[in-house]
Amino acid sequence: MSNVPFTIMGTDYVQLIVGNAKQAAHYYQTQFGFDPVAYQGLETGDREKASYVLVQNKIRLVLTTPYLASSDLNEHLRLHGDGVKDVAFWVDDAEAAWKYTTEQGATSVREPFVISDDDGEVKLASIHTYGDTIHTFVQRDNYKGLFLPGFIPFETRVQTKPVGLNFIDHFVGNQPENQMTKIAEWYERVFGFTRFWTVDDKDISTEYSALRSIVVTNDNQRIKMPINRPAVGLKKSQIQEFVEYYSGPGVQHIAFDTNDIVQTVTQLRDNGVVFLDVPAEYYDELPKRVPEVEENIDDLGQLGILVDKDEFGYMLQIFTMPVQDRPTLFYEIIQRKGAKGFGKGNFKALFESIERAQARRGNL
Ligand code: FE2
Repeated sequence: MSNVPFTIMGTDYVQLIVGNAKQAAHYYQTQFGFDPVAYQGLETGDREKASYVLVQNKIRLVLTTPYLASSDLNEHLRLHGDGVKDVAFWVDDAEAAWKYTTEQGATSVREPFVISDDDGEVKLASIHTYGDTIHTFVQRDNYKGLFLPGFIPFETRVQTKPVGLNFIDHFVGNQPENQMTKIAEWYERVFGFTRFWTVDDKDISTEYSALRSIVVTNDNQRIKMPINRPAVGLKKSQIQEFVEYYSGPGVQHIAFDTNDIVQTVTQLRDNGVVFLDVPAEYYDELPKRVPEVEENIDDLGQLGILVDKDEFGYMLQIFTMPVQDRPTLFYEIIQRKGAKGFGKGNFKALFESIERAQARRGNL
């Protein structure tokens, strides 16, 4: 056991800074089945920004847009486009989390503070991580409101149809050349995270591009975070493409857990979500590669769902195309049937698909 004096119970919320949160909220509702439950903006007294909170089971997204040219959030938009600003951690003690992490060398964004309303109080504090990304510590044991004090219920006549997304399985940070190990060691020192699973470019390479990855996790493994960097290939790595369009390091993808990936992806595709395509040959080899698959191979092939296995079991996964015009943030849908990995066995097939998309963008 580590001697870290606080516990992370999971991801509390993920905040994205976007160009038009009102429209993005509609997109996440109608395409991904998130329920818009809460709002903060001019009508609630926030003069700087509008924020929409969208929920599906244990996943909480916050979409935020600045109103005025004077807001610092505009710089986030200019540099990164729509993207993740804050991966907030649900903790038992926000003060202890901030104190310990800053003592270990993290840079503070905001010292611990308390906000309250009729539903109780929440203690918050934030630190910087890679790039312009931050982690906010959220201590909400004395709060029974919708999200945070200051938010009001969001009203819409649009019906939400959930697609079965349960919780965040993992989220991935892309780093420029030479930064991956440093960032992994930062999480080990500052958070007491440990290394979970590592791949090198022997595992993940195609003819053209490659990545390397270190996965770090906390004690209870509620937080799992692969950290990627580009590896040298014949052509441009997808990680390098991300770093160029994101103006540096940032969150590349977030993986949502589901209990029934065939059902979830069927609904997502019907809603208009576009996924990476998978070569037909992939499904010819699949029964040999993962003989224990219970799902119908034709269903998996039609939906483009990938399968991988490790010593613990198997898992099914699929990746969306980027969800904004910049080729940056995308999502993964994952169903674990025992396997603990992140799809190492799929990387080759997957990267060939990513590279076809990169080539269409003229970035290979
Ligand atoms: Fe992933």
